Amino acid sequence: MNADDVVTGLAEVTGQCPGQRLLHARGSWVRGVFTAAPQGEPVPVVARLSGTRGGLDGHDADSTDQGIAVRFPDWDLITFTAPVFFVRTAAELVGFLAANPPPEPTAAPAGFLGLTYHSVHAFGLDGLGWARLEWHPRVVADPLDIEVARGLAPDYLHRDLTAALPGALDLYARLPDPDDAVHDPTAEWRSTTLIRLGAMELLEIIDAPVPEPEFDPLRLPSGIQAPLDELAAGRSAVYRAARARRG
Ligand code: HEM
Repeated sequence: MNADDVVTGLAEVTGQCPGQRLLHARGSWVRGVFTAAPQGEPVPVVARLSGTRGGLDGHDADSTDQGIAVRFPDWDLITFTAPVFFVRTAAELVGFLAANPPPEPTAAPAGFLGLTYHSVHAFGLDGLGWARLEWHPRVVADPLDIEVARGLAPDYLHRDLTAALPGALDLYARLPDPDDAVHDPTAEWRSTTLIRLGAMELLEIIDAPVPEPEFDPLRLPSGIQAPLDELAAGRSAVYRAARARRG
């Protein structure tokens, strides 16, 4: 199955309209700055915060996961709230989603800035070795009861974000324990070793940039090596094909 076939399959499974993202359709764009630890120069970033499922007409309470795609000057870091992925290849994702409709949620997030976001893949960091990257909240927000969340506006997470800004997320590298499966994005790691890499201040909501950043999980700066797992390259090709399809 090539990237185009994956896109066709995803369109069938998600039922999303042409012109929308097949996943992560509803998103808010935010302008911010990232400052590397311990004393880096602040660099401008643009982030898009989104919900995985539900399309533009869905309710934020029903989106299974939330994501953040961040465009740095020389890097795209794309993360979501699931700590591991469900399958090892892009081709397997279509069958997985078809066979596993989103579960009936019992809780929903209270706000984008109270969640932890995971890279799932391990990246090779100069000086640190292979590591998963994670955005951590300053204050963890307790989830809302699902019925309470469903009583809020369908785009309540995005409305809440406007009120929550400015806010911040911290970037951490999680280094694997010797027994952790470093290059398997479906494997949980036991490691609790976290190195703080810097902070992203999210300043204000902006209109979608024109042209929009073409997020690519393999757009990496020097000093960061691409993941060795098969999923990362598969994602890169699918994102390109999905963008071409939605025009
Ligand atoms: C086989 C694996 C995957 C496939 C096939 C896939 C597919 C897609 C597709 C089709 C889109 C919409 C692209 C567009 O129209 O611009 C998307 C967006 C996105 N995906 Fe994935 N995805 C995969 C894995 C992941 C993983 C592992 C993460 C997180 C670590 C992730 C996070 C995101 C985010 C945050 C967006 C929204 C990007 C934006 O705001 O433009 N995806 N994905």
